[in-house]
Amino acid sequence: MRAVADILEHVSRLIVRPSGPLSGEVVIRGAKNSVLKLMAACVLATGRYVLRNVPHISDVEHMRLLLEAMGIQTRWRDDDALEVVRGDEVTPEAPYELVERMRASSAVLGPLLASVGEARVAMPGGDDFGSRPIDMHLQGLEAMGARFSLAHGVIEGVAPRLKGTEIVLEYPSVGATENLLMAGVLAEGRTTVHNAAREPEIADLAAFLNRMGGRILGAGSSVITIDGVDELRAVEHRVIPDRVEVATFLSALGVAGGELDLRGVRVDHLDLLIEKLGRMGMRISPEAEGLWAMSKGRPRPVDVATLPYPGLATDYLPVLVALQCFSTGTSYATENVFSGRFRYIGELARMGARIRVEDHHLVIDGVERLSGAPVRAVDIRAGAALVVAALGADGETVISDAHHIDRGYEDFDARMRAIGADVQRVD
Ligand code: EPU
Repeated sequence: MRAVADILEHVSRLIVRPSGPLSGEVVIRGAKNSVLKLMAACVLATGRYVLRNVPHISDVEHMRLLLEAMGIQTRWRDDDALEVVRGDEVTPEAPYELVERMRASSAVLGPLLASVGEARVAMPGGDDFGSRPIDMHLQGLEAMGARFSLAHGVIEGVAPRLKGTEIVLEYPSVGATENLLMAGVLAEGRTTVHNAAREPEIADLAAFLNRMGGRILGAGSSVITIDGVDELRAVEHRVIPDRVEVATFLSALGVAGGELDLRGVRVDHLDLLIEKLGRMGMRISPEAEGLWAMSKGRPRPVDVATLPYPGLATDYLPVLVALQCFSTGTSYATENVFSGRFRYIGELARMGARIRVEDHHLVIDGVERLSGAPVRAVDIRAGAALVVAALGADGETVISDAHHIDRGYEDFDARMRAIGADVQRVD
């Protein structure tokens, strides 16, 4: 387990200094929140998988460690292709040290129960967003015949063969929908998930499972029907582009000004984001497999509120708030998905942002410039938000715990430098 320690102990800071307007091209990488689930889905069938457009981020490395701990081989093939080889034997276990570092590890629960009939997965604890239970995952799997017990912090699940059934989710949880898709695909009979999450990453997972031989209809809508099959096969698949990266680079553009071409974008996943940024004053136009965007001057004050897809993603909010800090008036931001996702506000306040937290709302009085300061990245998107804010700050901003940013963004500092931002890494 030396490799785990290497990843976890990696400490770095980003130093951001003011620069001119941004310009150039950014190639958007594959979606973190899709690829992690596709990797988990490789548990479902033996054979050799090839995933393309896989970002080089530390969460992918964590998921590789988890698969390898279960006896599944992985290796980078070339730049962005990850090969996964699942043999006959799998150890159905996700240990605490990996689950604790990456909650997405619980995505192996459904595939393990469906293909091996048992799973021992450390129970994820609370995190920076609040308590984050997985009760809906467990209830859904129980309705399909799985039995769970919790001992010493580990959920032990058994399921001789899962049986399809009707499941109504209390809330369209992304993780629960994904676990149920991966369980239902090998279950006996039909599983119907009502009030399913509709995120593009769900549709990507369903496309992957269908390519493997699954029979899933309706992914991307609120009702998903899964007709279980007896066997699946390993396949090749290209991961969809990361919507949150697009929101991050566009917010950076909104703060620094300039003109960017984003390549490898699915514009159809970004409707509401593009509309909001347009209302703030940014010019954005779709191009073949990408979009062009231009920004000049301070953004107009526009309110934003997160909701499950097709609502505005909770993962966009920190970078949008960083942009709202510079509005020419007062704007509101509302977080409806996670109860405790405002820890970065205190860091923005250290830079002079004028933000008041009122329950799950933020009231943001825009200022012309922030003031560079030492700040700390508390999670992936919060870290990205600090970089975005620092582009509009006088002096130097030193962002510690930058490893959080590396969990979800490939080479963030180098890609920011390539478009003219002054972002340096100090290890
Ligand atoms: N929830 C429950 N019980 C459950 C499951 C969820 O109460 O059994 C609650 C959560 O506590 C939360 C809400 O439901 O309040 C939404 O949670 P959801 O299950 O939809 O989110 P998730 O699967 O845990 C994924 C992404 C998050 C992203 C959310 C929402 C991955 C690995 N993570 O989390 O991404 O914010 O969906 O879109 O896919 C990130 O990338 O930085 C990130 C946090």
